[in-house]
Amino acid sequence: MSDEPSVMNQDAVIPGYLGRALSYELSAVQQYLSLSSLLTMRGVHEASERFRNEAQDELQHAERIIGRMVALGFAPNASCLRPPKLNGSLSQLVEHVIEFEHEIVEFYESAVQYCIQAGDCENRIFFDALLSEERQHASHVNDWWQKMVTT
Ligand SMILES: [Fe+2]
Ligand SMILES: [Fe+2]
Repeated sequence: MSDEPSVMNQDAVIPGYLGRALSYELSAVQQYLSLSSLLTMRGVHEASERFRNEAQDELQHAERIIGRMVALGFAPNASCLRPPKLNGSLSQLVEHVIEFEHEIVEFYESAVQYCIQAGDCENRIFFDALLSEERQHASHVNDWWQKMVTT
């Protein structure tokens, strides 16, 4: 790591946002992989595959966040993984993941808002990219589910 602390490293808020982001993303990986396994067991293979792919997207987000943390000079430390929700009908489980995606969207909105107020352009761009991808997740899961229930 660099010997010279950067301006960003002196800001304790950004490491906090990155740590929470990592917890969210790894929780999403855990949620989607668990759901995928459950649906394979139930013989719902198309949905299982769908959620396995979602888990890969979330894993890539986790990788980007870890890369950012390492580049900024602090150790990744996701400390708060959410237990997956696995009880209920498929419709309830899908509703849960859509709600979870919306929660992550709100979290990234607050991270972007903080960066704008702090004049932190680099981290704003970083969080903004994650924000727009999470917005797409929420709407793609929703569109996929609407198609599943109407066909
Ligand atoms: Fe994600
Ligand atoms: Fe997501």
